[in-house]
Amino acid sequence: MNSEEIRKEFLAFFEKRGHKVIASSSLIPGDDPSVLITTAGMQQFKKYFTREKDPIKDFGTQRTTSIQKCFRTTDIEEVGDERHLTFFEMLGNFSFGPVGSDDPKDFGVSGYFKRSAICWAYEFLNNLGLKIDFVSVFKGEKNIPYDSESFNIWKELGIDEKKIMKFGREDNFWGPTGEEGPCGPTTEIYIDNIEVWNIVFNEYYQEKSGNLKKLEFPGVDTGMGFERLMKVIQKTATVFETDLFEPLRTRILEINPNIQVRDLRIILDHTRASVFLISDGIYPSNLERGYVLRRILRRLMLKLNKYNLTDKIDIMIKAVIEKFGNIYNNLKNYDKIYEVINKEFKSFERTLKRGLKMFEKYIKGNETEEELGEKLFLLFTSFGLPLDISKELLKEKEMKFTEISNHVFSKLFEEHRKISKSS
Ligand code: ALA
Repeated sequence: MNSEEIRKEFLAFFEKRGHKVIASSSLIPGDDPSVLITTAGMQQFKKYFTREKDPIKDFGTQRTTSIQKCFRTTDIEEVGDERHLTFFEMLGNFSFGPVGSDDPKDFGVSGYFKRSAICWAYEFLNNLGLKIDFVSVFKGEKNIPYDSESFNIWKELGIDEKKIMKFGREDNFWGPTGEEGPCGPTTEIYIDNIEVWNIVFNEYYQEKSGNLKKLEFPGVDTGMGFERLMKVIQKTATVFETDLFEPLRTRILEINPNIQVRDLRIILDHTRASVFLISDGIYPSNLERGYVLRRILRRLMLKLNKYNLTDKIDIMIKAVIEKFGNIYNNLKNYDKIYEVINKEFKSFERTLKRGLKMFEKYIKGNETEEELGEKLFLLFTSFGLPLDISKELLKEKEMKFTEISNHVFSKLFEEHRKISKSS
């Protein structure tokens, strides 16, 4: 099955079970100043979990489902390995309570909780012919009790007890997004050793202080990474060979079939992510979200430049629009997207070319950790070569930028900042 079919199947499955299908919200979170970029499907529903907004009034039901555009800045430097992505889509179903029967046969509009959420996830995956490897539940910690209910539901569904792992707060507790918000224990589903679906039982509200208080009604917030799901369905080697990266991947390989795999992954992820960020109205700058976009555009340019592909960005943008334009209407503005990327590439071109030359000249490969921090600082202050780019160049040379190098860099940077401020 391809991703277009799965999109339809997923939303139809939950629509049939009383959920209202809601379009993805923007990557710029609307009314939540504590969050820079949308990182999860529940972001647009935060106020329904807290009852500041009324789901019945707005949706006619306590249940919604969506496929949400997400972006996670934490993963930028990791992109290039087999699984990390910055931009991804998340399939989710949500319940805002109060809980009705919590019977998976109840296709009505009341809230539901653990039994329905788990049984439906199981049923949906089963319908696709996927076999669950193992699941995990919250083992209990401090004031939050062990989730025996989820454990028992999985057992009833036929999952071997040995395959129901019990993990603590680190693994099986999710949220909040931003400084405060709904959060709770989770149960997670693994297929082919990949965490595919995260089911969060939003029983708590975490305040800014870190204090947890009980929400008026317990809610459900689930998230299934679309790329990971497609990887297990299409049985590809990594997420990058799924149809979610087509036709972009093929187009790039047609131009140059010899791109190194790590570079190709960075190009795939960063192209797609930039197109989506710009289409939602984010522009490169030195601040907040604009800076996030600038970082990935520069990293993208570094890789394209390596293969003389910078002037092929038009073909690449078009390939992303070809895949997603019918799903996300604002992607259709090709001219604008091209203009923003091209302008950023042009303005970084000189710095990059000179920086690359200087990097080759100064970095010999036998530096101590301290020296490396000093040298990257010099490349940054004297030639404007961003640390991100230097770090990526080190990776290409299989050199390490360690904690110590980072410490030296940061110390020098701080001193430099103080001097420039006072002069
Ligand atoms: N909100 C949960 C997540 O992002 C489902 O994993």
